[in-house]
Amino acid sequence: MTHRVLVTGAGGYIGSHMLACLREAGHFVVALDNFENGHRSAARADHVLECGVENRTLVAAALVSHRIDAVLHFAGYIQVEESVREPVRYYVNNFGCTIVLLNAMVDAGVKRFVFSSSAAVYGAPATNPVTETHACAPINAYGKSKLLVEQALPEFEHTHGLTSISMRYFNAAGAKSDASLGERHKPETHLIPLAIAAATSSGPPLTIYGSDYDTPDGCCVRDYVHVEDICDAHLLALNHLVAGAASTALNLGSGCGHSVREVIDTVARVTGRPVPHTVASRRPGDPSSLVADISRAERLLGWTPTRSNLERIVGDAARWHCRIPK
Ligand code: UFG
Repeated sequence: MTHRVLVTGAGGYIGSHMLACLREAGHFVVALDNFENGHRSAARADHVLECGVENRTLVAAALVSHRIDAVLHFAGYIQVEESVREPVRYYVNNFGCTIVLLNAMVDAGVKRFVFSSSAAVYGAPATNPVTETHACAPINAYGKSKLLVEQALPEFEHTHGLTSISMRYFNAAGAKSDASLGERHKPETHLIPLAIAAATSSGPPLTIYGSDYDTPDGCCVRDYVHVEDICDAHLLALNHLVAGAASTALNLGSGCGHSVREVIDTVARVTGRPVPHTVASRRPGDPSSLVADISRAERLLGWTPTRSNLERIVGDAARWHCRIPK
């Protein structure tokens, strides 16, 4: 069955991979982005709408005129550390603008919504791996802004019959396997692209933020999940919602944790070059460990992350890194 889908944040990292995945599966796709951070060249779709998600009139009109069945909402600010310094921007953009988008969907009668949430909603979890039933206690405005949306979604369901799946990403990483798309943030703050840039001398030495955490080697532990596995999960979630499934939240990770040092070692092995680095103090807003229990997504969607081992993620990211338009 083919769908007619609006993708917000379409020129961004995960949004652009999602466009490719949807189009390869034969769906009709409208790409929406204001290109504040997204890349025009990455937003390849049947129709591109240059506007912000907060433009309720324009978004509602596009939903109607393109006969959209479902919205996949990737647009949002994503930097944890920035959200600690400038929290209000995160509430306005990630929460406020999403509410406007949901209202535009109500105006247009569109009732299926897949939301890019985050493992940041858990804060610093008491146990790892984390299941979706773990208490949500975000420790930065980024995580709080995502949780606010998740908390508003049942109200939209109750009042307007809008069903949703919140996808709680752990650390999205990697690039499209054919190296045609990848991660291109400005500024780049994520570990894997920065480590690759350091190894290949196209960036400065890497700074390790903290080696005094309560983890096996003292560095933070994260769960890295391949961007194409994330896209597969969204496609399954879309089918699931259209088939009438109930609203839920799902962890998307690999189920395995890796420390910052393990990532550095993997980048060195895959690129064949050492990763120059220094150790600094902790970065504000960073929990020590975040690892997903992915059994709910596996059970509900029949999803299995097939590309999310660290070697594969780093290999795909490194291949993309060589091709990034500088
Ligand atoms: N790190 C460094 N040096 C760097 C960059 C990162 O040591 O230069 C460390 C961080 O302290 C962290 C780990 O590498 O421990 C991963 O950091 P990233 O910035 O790559 O990713 P985050 O874990 O901070 O955040 C990511 C997403 C968020 C999401 C979060 C949920 O970017 O959107 O995962 O786990 F909320």
